Amino acid sequence: MQFDIATPTLSEEGARRLEWAGRRMPVLASLRERFRQEKPLEGRTVAACLHVTAETANLMLALRDAGARPALCASNPLSTQDDIAAALVAEGIPVFAVRGEDSDTYYGHIHSVLDLEPDITMDDGADLATILHTTRTELNPVGSTEETTTGVIRLRAMAEDGTLRVPVVAVNDSQTKHLFDNRYGTGQSAMDGIIRASNVLIAGSNVVVVGYGDCGRGVADRARGLGAHVIVVEVDAVRAISAVMDGHRVLTADDAAEIGHIFITVTGNKHVLRRRHFERMRNGAILANAGHFDIELELTALEEMAGPSRPIRANLDEYVMPDGRRILIAAEGRLVNLGAAEGHPADVMDLSFSNQALAAEWLVQNEGALEPQIYTLPAELDAEVARIKLEALGFGLEKLTDDQVSYLSGWQEGTA
Ligand SMILES: NC(=O)c1ccc[n+]([C@@H]2O[C@H](COP(=O)([O-])OP(=O)(O)OC[C@H]3O[C@@H](n4cnc5c(N)ncnc54)[C@H](O)[C@@H]3O)[C@@H](O)[C@H]2O)c1
Repeated sequence: MQFDIATPTLSEEGARRLEWAGRRMPVLASLRERFRQEKPLEGRTVAACLHVTAETANLMLALRDAGARPALCASNPLSTQDDIAAALVAEGIPVFAVRGEDSDTYYGHIHSVLDLEPDITMDDGADLATILHTTRTELNPVGSTEETTTGVIRLRAMAEDGTLRVPVVAVNDSQTKHLFDNRYGTGQSAMDGIIRASNVLIAGSNVVVVGYGDCGRGVADRARGLGAHVIVVEVDAVRAISAVMDGHRVLTADDAAEIGHIFITVTGNKHVLRRRHFERMRNGAILANAGHFDIELELTALEEMAGPSRPIRANLDEYVMPDGRRILIAAEGRLVNLGAAEGHPADVMDLSFSNQALAAEWLVQNEGALEPQIYTLPAELDAEVARIKLEALGFGLEKLTDDQVSYLSGWQEGTA
């Protein structure tokens, strides 16, 4: 078996963390039980480009239970947990990922999983799909799945201009993914990453959240829960007004730049904080990004203004401006929740990765019948994932009476 990881010696520690995460993933566990009986992915190779975390490792084991041959590379050079990579290799699953790998190694690893000629590809940010549509056009998988908002936006753009040549399941678009993972997962783990990188007190500080989508709303909620004054920056008026009614201040980036102590970008867009904002920032401002790519902070401009940075703590680099102000960047401007913390808790990745496993099964079940388009998993699967999670958490779900079903589907009954 080929693989490329930091060191196999970390496998025992990785196996313990993998087990711990698995205990908190009851929906995936119930799928694994069914997969072991039914083997819906028998003989299929699945190439996954996902963050190499304990939760992803549990997904890899679920795919293997389904009869697949999974292989994994990283979807971000800084998110790999080397102990987890080692634990998966010890399980016989090929992994090509080393925390902190350079760009050439990162893309080399993507090619390594594609060399296995996958039947299904799983992406978090569309890197595999991009290579499939540029340099590896000889490969023709049955279909692909996509985990995150940024990847889905890119794949939709490919579908619109007629470039897309494989069917894709937008896992992000399942309600049991984006309403939970993006909101509660990113919310908690982004704050966790900032705290681990800086150990600053959040209470009483001005936390600026740039982007108030599912992720931004989650980050803003958790920052407020820690006692911050939250300021939101948005370009979409509807989202901006919902931030206002959620109780946050909404300002332009220029105005927010002057008062923020901590900035978190979560837009999926480029250079949302740039030179003009760095010029206005207070001494000691801490900047972090939780959006998919490391392009939300214009770090090249910061380097032009301040010269090279120096590491002041693990995962925190300091730039000194010509006027003496210090600006700090967490996790090199990459996903702070994965670069400086452990990513989303298993409890929420249970939902996302159950959707990933169901998406792979759905692609195989529908092989030959799908167009090169973006698909969303059927609503019944969303409901089933939510139902199993509720049951596992020990909550009850009310049922409609027959009378209520007929009332909701009719129009004659009104004011008594
Ligand atoms: N850190 C993680 O683990 C994690 C998890 C899930 C998603 N993501 C990524 O986070 C990003 C956001 O995801 P989402 O689901 O919240 O997306 P979303 O589309 O729901 O929200 C993004 C918001 O950013 C706003 N925006 C765009 N440009 C802006 C600008 N210049 N200034 C201010 N606001 C701007 C948009 O109007 C939108 O409301 C994506 O890149 C996604 O892939 C990261």
